[in-house]
Amino acid sequence: MKATMVLKRDHQTVNGLFRDFERLADDDTLVQRQLVDRIRQELDVHLRVEEELFYPELERVPEAADLVAEARAEHQLVKDLCAEIARLHPTDIDYAAKIEVLRENFDHHVEEEESEIFPLAKKHISGDRLEKIGDQLENRREEILKQIRKTEMA
Ligand SMILES: [Fe+2]
Repeated sequence: MKATMVLKRDHQTVNGLFRDFERLADDDTLVQRQLVDRIRQELDVHLRVEEELFYPELERVPEAADLVAEARAEHQLVKDLCAEIARLHPTDIDYAAKIEVLRENFDHHVEEEESEIFPLAKKHISGDRLEKIGDQLENRREEILKQIRKTEMA
């Protein structure tokens, strides 16, 4: 699968999780927490593989360099928010608000990538190369998930 498709699929996964979260009852704190943990993990893996494997390719395209620099800065905001949320409990007063801000930041991330960055990638990177990066993204994703599972069991 092409890198842009792999990343789009990740976006859809996270979007679905946010939607599931919104449908939960206010007092379903256990499931809220499980879903938010999953969202944080999906985001962590997604942002890491993008930063490690996809953005470096685009940084070689002069037209895309500014957009990628902006995206990297925005990734940091999402990571900071995830770290804050990890320290909160669903019954905390600002929990729902933080999740909402995380969702807004994520929506913005998706919008910028899918409407600006991916079209530039398709324009400047060959189909074969995008397929190859797509494979690398999938492999790296598996590797990171394995590492996470190992640390969870330790
Ligand atoms: Fe993304």
